[in-house]
Amino acid sequence: MREDLMQRAKDTLLKNLYQVKLNGQNYQRTVPSKEFYVHQWNWDSATHAMGLVYFDERRAVDELLSLISGQWKNGLIAQITFNPNEEKYFPGPEFWGTEKFATGEILTSGITQPPLLGISLLHLYQTIKDIDLKKELVIKVLPAVIKYHEFLKNFRDPEDSGLLTVVHPWESGTDNSTRWDEPLANISLEDIPDAVKILVNKYRSDDKLGNSKHRPGLTDYYKYMYLVHLFSKWGWDNNKIVKESPFVVKDVLFNSLWCRANFALAELLEQEGRRDESATFLKMAQKTQKSLLDLWDDKSGLYTDLDVSNGKRIRIKENTVATFLPIWAGAYNKSILDSLIDRLKDPKQYWSAFPVPTTSLNNSKFELTRYWRGPTWPITNLFVIEGLGKLGPEYQALKMELLSRTFKMIEDNGFYEYFDPINGGARPDKRNTLSLGFGSFSWTSAIYIYLSNKYKET
Ligand code: GLC
Repeated sequence: MREDLMQRAKDTLLKNLYQVKLNGQNYQRTVPSKEFYVHQWNWDSATHAMGLVYFDERRAVDELLSLISGQWKNGLIAQITFNPNEEKYFPGPEFWGTEKFATGEILTSGITQPPLLGISLLHLYQTIKDIDLKKELVIKVLPAVIKYHEFLKNFRDPEDSGLLTVVHPWESGTDNSTRWDEPLANISLEDIPDAVKILVNKYRSDDKLGNSKHRPGLTDYYKYMYLVHLFSKWGWDNNKIVKESPFVVKDVLFNSLWCRANFALAELLEQEGRRDESATFLKMAQKTQKSLLDLWDDKSGLYTDLDVSNGKRIRIKENTVATFLPIWAGAYNKSILDSLIDRLKDPKQYWSAFPVPTTSLNNSKFELTRYWRGPTWPITNLFVIEGLGKLGPEYQALKMELLSRTFKMIEDNGFYEYFDPINGGARPDKRNTLSLGFGSFSWTSAIYIYLSNKYKET
């Protein structure tokens, strides 16, 4: 950790602060990057708070207060909470048809993102020194997070399998991961109305503000917006969406976080002396832990997502970083763990100059610079580091090595959205910058601060 970089990380979070008055109330939230992501994102904000808490406890709590401010009556905390009058990002509020679910002036998208919020809440609860702020967390944020977990449990796991369903690649947080190629093939381009394609052609902006070679492909985008169009047509009826969406997946990464988030709520409630509620969340966490083990596929040596659309149950055997997530959830046995660690340490798969690439280097679909199909993302590194941190002493050297390479990747290149996992000098074009995506990124800054503080003693 370098002091000058620490200051820059804080400055980035300060620069990305967005103050807005809605329903007569002031909100302070952090946008991911002013270059493109000019609203509030769910799992980004959960992460922002985990970094902010080390230098501005008030702002960390404000971040979560703002995130829950647009919670729907049914409990949904959306993927995006929109800022008014911002044009840069597509699809903005006018494309979702969610107005009737809005809390007054607070408009949101209609889907969610990986449930990191409960984990963030516990971290704040354990880190904040100011007693009044801690009380505010328990009084205002905790009930909203409990309601959000009830939403997820009721609407995304009606069959009580222990595993939640995601209904849109954007819900997975890893939008264009190779894991979604197969389930997205359920949607044929001919099924997509021209109006949806025209909309994308006219308004899509990420590939214009950013480098189109780094962004998801056009057909993927048609499909993303087709799903939004369908759900909006169905009035955001979650029962119908889970039953009838062509994209319905049990996602390993999402469910690993779900498991950890329920453990986190159980711990917080236990500390608050709310034993019965704590036991409920503990049971939910343990159930998911067990169900995650069923996603292990011995043949491929991977945790596999399940395509459960139309009564199917097809394992998606893609070698990506998601396979390491159940370590953090504690969902493994000795032989699984051994094989996962071998995989992680393999230079042909994951142990590149700047690990952990989001897709294995030897996966035929690996792409060096395209979004979630190869580049190293600080957020997924954080999950792998946390997982290793929970293992025995013999794994701690590996954790420290990953930590130091993650720091170096950021220190050498800046606070970018994601990074080229391969050493610049070793690349055919000898380009030596590894930074990709949008710059001055809040996520990367918050993760730098969080990891530096959390692991400084070890
Ligand atoms: C992209 C990422 C998503 C993230 C958002 C804001 O859409 O895929 O995970 O939350 O950007 O940073």
